[in-house]
Parts: sequence; C-alpha cells; structure tokens
Amino acid sequence: MTTRAEALALLEDRMKDCQKCPLAQTRTRVVPGEGPVDAELVFIGEAPGFNEDRQGRPFVGQAGQLLTELLQSIGLRRQDVYITNIVKCRPPNNRDPMPNEIEACRPWLESQLEVLAPLVICTLGRHSMGRYFKMSISRIHGQPAKFGDVWVMPFFHPAAALHNQALRPALFADFQKLPALLDQARAERRAKSTPVKEPPPEPKQLSLF
Ligand code: URA
Repeated sequence: MTTRAEALALLEDRMKDCQKCPLAQTRTRVVPGEGPVDAELVFIGEAPGFNEDRQGRPFVGQAGQLLTELLQSIGLRRQDVYITNIVKCRPPNNRDPMPNEIEACRPWLESQLEVLAPLVICTLGRHSMGRYFKMSISRIHGQPAKFGDVWVMPFFHPAAALHNQALRPALFADFQKLPALLDQARAERRAKSTPVKEPPPEPKQLSLF
C-alpha cells in the first residue's frame, strides 16, 4: 500500500515533466511545492518567480523571507507547513498567471490537497484566493470560511506587502488569527473522528419478588 508521503512524492515527481500549458516552454524548472505531508497548514501562492524557477523551490526570494517572518511571528517554522502555488511554472517576466494556465494546473493542486488533507488552507494573494472566494481581497482578507471540512484563510500576498508597506500591518495582524483558527479546526476534526459514545444503559432494577 502506498503511504501518503509516497503518494505526495510521486505526485511532485510526475509534475516535473508537465506539458499541459505553454508555460512548459519557458520555464527552467517546475516548482511543485515543499513541506511535510502531515502539515496542518497549506499555503498557496501565485506562481514561481525568477529564483523559484531556477531552484525548483517555492517562495525562496524576498516574498519567501517575509513569509518565513510571518510564520515565525506565530511560533511556526517554514518547515512546519506545506507551501505551493496555484501555477507550478514561472510565467514569463513574472506576469500574472492566465486563466488557461490556472485551469491546466488545477488537477495538480487538487491532487496535492487531497493527499495533504490540511486543516487550514492559506491563500496568498488574489489568484489563489479566487479559487474559493469571489470577493475582493481588500474586503475579505483575514476572514476565514469553511469549505467542506477545510478552513480557508485569505491573506494578502507577501510580495504585495513588500511593494506597498501599508499592507504589512494588516498581513501580520491576519496571521495572528491563525493559531486560534488552527485550534478550532483541530477540535472539529477530533470531534468528527471520535464517535459520540452512547451513554451506558440505566442499571436494571432487580425485582426480587
Ligand atoms: N514565490 C512563489 O513561489 N510564489 C509566489 O506567489 C511568489 C513568490
């Protein structure tokens, strides 16, 4: 039987030869994602940039440094979470991913989420947020919603906060909400997997006469 770790490794490996969209022609390396298979938190960014495309790893540039800082601000390390993108290959000149590219890449992300089965999905920026929410990011950042049995928390993209320093305090404040959301999600998952016990039957009155 395949373990979850093997299933994830196999999936990441299969992605490396993907030819499903035109980004295959311009990328250097596919960037499947990285992190432990039992991560409770999955972060979904937009698309690999220059450094990610060279190294084959997500969020290794300046935006990645800010993501690491944000995680540290709530007592987490980068290696505690799974990090991936909505599109696994770098769009030329870091342009926005196009709808056909997002669509072509969707089955990869869906398979990853199926294997990872996280408690909370954190979207970074409007492209990954658009998978779940149809509202503007400035209205709903930091407001989680439940989809099936997984919570989704929309965040501004760290790169947006690097370009516009005014977004930084909101991004850090939104991250502060994650520990409580995780606690709630853990409790809900526990309650779901623990069958509610029937109360023991009332002791029968023994009738001696
Ligand atoms: N690096 C990534 O991997 N994804 C982004 O969205 C930005 C930087």
